[in-house]
Amino acid sequence: MEIIIRPDAGAAVELVSRLLAMRIGNKPACVLGLATGRTMEQLYEHLSQQTISWQQCRTFNLDEYIGLTADDPQSYRQYMQQHLFSRTDIDVQNTHVPDGNAADLKQAALDYEQAIQAAGGIDVQLLGIGEAGHIGFNEPLSAIMSRTRDKCLTPTTRRQNAAMFGGDAERVPRRALTMGVGTILDAREILLLATGKAKASIIAQAVEGPITSMVSASALQLHPNCKVIVDEEAASGLQGREYYDFVFHNEPEWAEFRD
Ligand code: F6R
Repeated sequence: MEIIIRPDAGAAVELVSRLLAMRIGNKPACVLGLATGRTMEQLYEHLSQQTISWQQCRTFNLDEYIGLTADDPQSYRQYMQQHLFSRTDIDVQNTHVPDGNAADLKQAALDYEQAIQAAGGIDVQLLGIGEAGHIGFNEPLSAIMSRTRDKCLTPTTRRQNAAMFGGDAERVPRRALTMGVGTILDAREILLLATGKAKASIIAQAVEGPITSMVSASALQLHPNCKVIVDEEAASGLQGREYYDFVFHNEPEWAEFRD
């Protein structure tokens, strides 16, 4: 795992955006795992202004609320359409979001796993992190080997996402269909983006704490190619930052990203 600390949210977003643009430039037919949430809104804004073609990319979103149809304005399918897909030349046929409105959720979950496999697996998985440590909607106690499945959301997550439901946590669906922690760990590269003070404690637990299913993001410590990009505020609980900064200033990979 590598931790990259940027001075502010804008700089963290810019770094992730440039990394993703490079990956797409190097492999135009790449398979991307995508996330939603407030943090990603800034990223997609930046990314959609980059001069890259998404025509050959295939995408798989992490999760979708159960019970919302794909055309529901609060669904993650609509979020993606609004914040990214409609602003790029991506072929919507190549974009996948779990079907949270499927009559048979278990089958929909299996189909999703198979579709990822059929695409050749995920090249780059983008992640945010919830205040309870979730990646996707893998809430505390999600098995580290879990696959795509339906999951009950925590009150913390429903409160965190209330803004998208008129500020009322009770209107946030109670369940979601989400890639599992194991599904996420299968990606060839993982980029986690977190900004703001509210993420400081959970980032410290995920990165420097023990690997525990109580903090799903801590499972990322098992991944051989995972980068965690944070701003100063989200980094403020980290003990080892002197070394993380040293790595950033000395690894050749980061030369073009240093100020
Ligand atoms: C959503 C998702 C979640 C979010 C996380 C952070 O697809 O996967 O794990 O990334 O809840 O959300 P924000 O950015 O709103 O704090």
